[in-house]
Amino acid sequence: MENKKLIEMAIEARDNSSYTPYSNFKVGAAVEMEDGSVYSGGNIEISSYSPTNCAERTAIFKAVSEGHREIKKIAIVSSGGETFPCGVCRQVIREFGKDVQIIIATTPEDYKVFTLEELLPHSFGPEDLGVKNV
Ligand code: THU
Repeated sequence: MENKKLIEMAIEARDNSSYTPYSNFKVGAAVEMEDGSVYSGGNIEISSYSPTNCAERTAIFKAVSEGHREIKKIAIVSSGGETFPCGVCRQVIREFGKDVQIIIATTPEDYKVFTLEELLPHSFGPEDLGVKNV
């Protein structure tokens, strides 16, 4: 899918799917999987804070629970300007893809593209435990 369209889906998730009563910092993500299917999601905050789920993980877990295992690209937007995935989300992206484009956007026209290798160099992943995605 075109980057612009993927970003539009992330914006839609940010605006309509996030649950952020504590920070009011809204994040949306849209992830394109190996077969071109797309899943989106927003961040979900929990009153005791630590169970909070980032938008990236919401989108990725939706895809994985529908049987997908390989991420091609992920677009991320927030209510606070350019927002990069947290360390936990970088590792979750790594679980389901090594050759991933990470699109950090503010609008469908204004975005930067990074590789996962740039954001998580020298990573540890399934192959280090002898596992290919199953
Ligand atoms: N958050 C995300 O959803 N994704 C990110 O990449 C950074 C942070 C969320 C978690 C929390 O709900 C809020 O943003 C403030 O940290």
